Amino acid sequence: MAFSFSFAGDDIEQELDNEIEQVVSPEIAQVFPTENANGNRQENALGNAAMAVPLEPNLLNLEELYQSLPDRILYSVLELRTAAGRTIKLPRRELFDVRVQLIAEDSHGQGADLTGLGNDDIKKNVYEGGYKSWECSEDLAKILRDEYEGEEGGVGTEELHCIELGCGTALPSLALFQMALSKSRANTRFTLADYNAEVLRLVTIPNLLLSWAVVTERLDASKPEDELDISPEMITAFFDDLKEKDISIRTISGSWGNEFLNLVSPEGNLGRVLVLASETIYSPESLVPFTKVLLDILSQSQRPRAYVAAKRMYFGVGGGVEEFKNVLAKMGGSAQEVELDVAGRGVARAVLDVSKS
Ligand SMILES: C[S@@+](CC[C@H](N)C(=O)[O-])C[C@H]1O[C@@H](n2cnc3c(N)ncnc32)[C@H](O)[C@@H]1O
Repeated sequence: MAFSFSFAGDDIEQELDNEIEQVVSPEIAQVFPTENANGNRQENALGNAAMAVPLEPNLLNLEELYQSLPDRILYSVLELRTAAGRTIKLPRRELFDVRVQLIAEDSHGQGADLTGLGNDDIKKNVYEGGYKSWECSEDLAKILRDEYEGEEGGVGTEELHCIELGCGTALPSLALFQMALSKSRANTRFTLADYNAEVLRLVTIPNLLLSWAVVTERLDASKPEDELDISPEMITAFFDDLKEKDISIRTISGSWGNEFLNLVSPEGNLGRVLVLASETIYSPESLVPFTKVLLDILSQSQRPRAYVAAKRMYFGVGGGVEEFKNVLAKMGGSAQEVELDVAGRGVARAVLDVSKS
């Protein structure tokens, strides 16, 4: 099903206190081309009457992703103010710049796949919303900035494995990434997962580079928008810096499930873990796989922590905070709400501190 939430698009940038209207497309998708594990499009094998099949999980090669970037990317800076009064400046790649790259890559004129780069928010099992920043990711980024501020020796003295499920533009991870980069040794692993490999390649990965450019003063984040020139030397300096500060990054595409879990935790044993997820509980069909993966990761961790940020209700779709809490309780988890500083703005939302019961 193709649909648009009432708060469609890059909802961080939208004023949400206007009317909230259910906007579910009446059209039921007959067939969508899907991506295979390498991010290429493939026709749905089930034929015209079927929905797209879920994409299989895949560990992507980080260096190849960075090599596929153009020599210049355009960005705008999102500025956030935390409850404790701190400022975070998060440059994000512009979506029109992504469109330009995809069209330029379509050298054989077959038609670039611009799914998700127009007005549609989600196409079930085809594109799950990752190109745009959703507003709950802002809440989570602010909480993390205040919570991890005081830690010594990186974002933590003990190695921290930060796993963002359904990361998209990855604002929460970017907030932590900037903090890790500002230490001499961060001792931090990042696993960034998104349903769509193209989202990881075209927005998540460039956004990490942009945040690195802020911390290393290659980019002036006081300008609301600008462009960053990218050279092979810059990419080498990026990887050298990560190595020196003991920061690693992995990217995983595809759908939540056991195969996905095996990629996140190949040895079935994780140390200190922080799982992050923003706006991943909108679909009743994926509530169970999402909750299972989340709880499985927590079970495999010696020191687990998890935050799930979401709107209280996804109009016309069926998911939301209460539905998640019910599923979580049935599957052996529990959630505490974190106090939010969002009075009077937009659709009601929450950040949950999730643990195994
Ligand atoms: C609405 S987007 C939110 C993106 C981002 N976290 C934010 O808040 O800006 C939902 C995200 O959940 C992920 N997602 C949804 N269904 C999924 C599934 N079945 N398997 C894996 N990821 C899924 C997608 O990667 C997508 O980026």
